[in-house]
Amino acid sequence: MRKDLVILGAQWGDEGKGKIVDLLSSYYDVVVRYQGGSNAGHTVHVGGEKFVLHLLPTGILHPHTMGVIAQGMVVDLELLVKEIRELESKGISVRDRLFISDRAHVVLPYHKVLDALFERKDKIGTTLRGIGPTYMFKYARKGVRMCDLEDRGRLYNLIRENVEFVKDLCERVYCENHSLDVDTILEQTLDYYEEIKDRVGDTTIFLLESSKRVLFEGAQGTLLDVDMGTYPYVTSSNASALGLSNGTGLPPKFFAKSYFVGVSKAYTTRVGEGPFPTELQDEEGQRLRDIGKEYGATTGRPRRCGWLDLVALRHAVRVNGLDGIILTKLDVLDSFEKIKVCVAYECEGKLMEDFPSSLRALGKVKPVYKEFDGWLSNTMGVKDVSKLPSKAKDYIEFIENYLGVPVVMLSSGPRREEYAWLKPFLQVEVIKE
Ligand code: IMP
Repeated sequence: MRKDLVILGAQWGDEGKGKIVDLLSSYYDVVVRYQGGSNAGHTVHVGGEKFVLHLLPTGILHPHTMGVIAQGMVVDLELLVKEIRELESKGISVRDRLFISDRAHVVLPYHKVLDALFERKDKIGTTLRGIGPTYMFKYARKGVRMCDLEDRGRLYNLIRENVEFVKDLCERVYCENHSLDVDTILEQTLDYYEEIKDRVGDTTIFLLESSKRVLFEGAQGTLLDVDMGTYPYVTSSNASALGLSNGTGLPPKFFAKSYFVGVSKAYTTRVGEGPFPTELQDEEGQRLRDIGKEYGATTGRPRRCGWLDLVALRHAVRVNGLDGIILTKLDVLDSFEKIKVCVAYECEGKLMEDFPSSLRALGKVKPVYKEFDGWLSNTMGVKDVSKLPSKAKDYIEFIENYLGVPVVMLSSGPRREEYAWLKPFLQVEVIKE
């Protein structure tokens, strides 16, 4: 029986998916990224070395895995080539194990110009990697896809038309001039393409015809999903399970037997603007930031920190149809005497248990907390659940009961080997058969 694995961010991204994907990829043959682009920053610590991957599927660090960049991604070729070369310089050759969709859209310099411009006008706190405008052009049917790079004449016309449009917009609407040059963009794009062109093709057919075990690696998180997140303070792709089918080009029923796991920190963080009901703007928030080293992997920005929000997390469980949760960074709470979790919102005297669609409502809610006594002992590096302090077990059990799904695994530190299984995890048993 085929059992693929889907790993998704259950919060606002930065949940520690990189480490989990890296760890579990050892059980899979193919690892697929299918949405977002270089806005992601997946950090992995292997053998004393730190890797931060933005575009390549994290699972590709294992020598046996094949990495797929599927059609729903937006690809910055300069960064992709840089990432491939960097891994090669560390002795990890990925070129032969990489397959890039010819339908994926290409991020170009004029997308980044627009990203920066929009941010100056209405700040969302984007990563400035040109992600939103690339999707914008995709849906306006003005995008450049990987397959367009095979036709120089067509590519020239597309870039020229888009550059003219962007320059015009900048000048007329925003009174700004930009020195975007069509020929330079064309030549640079084709130079980078040359380095990877033999790895580009129809990844959908490849996945449909393959009998291999596949791990689907989500980027960002459910609350940043363009439809199910805190719109408009979201990314521009479907970062929840909703993005799987359009991001891979695979029919929804392809995923019917997959196991869906959501990664969540034992507390909450977010970068960028937007509502965050359990945010702590005080010393406790700073403590979480310091202990958890909460600074963005892509932009280096300090992350906003707060207590675990179970209302938001249950929204993620429902939207993604999660079978289990992988809890990360429990050890960050080790020294806290009191730990709070949000179990409901209060809005104008009314209790709310569901995550609201309206930003106005979310901006007004006050978290209703349940308070726990801290366990005040070290859980860093723990590999055996029975060794967890009983108060930490109580904390985990409460989360499970509230969400109605099990916490199947704990990540107990940044390194590959720092984890503990909590519940028998389907995939691994299947693989061992
Ligand atoms: P964009 O994806 O760069 O357009 O940014 C939109 C929003 O998503 C901003 O709030 C970003 O900070 C956030 N975001 C994008 N990628 C990530 C990520 O990988 N982790 C956390 N937040 C992200």
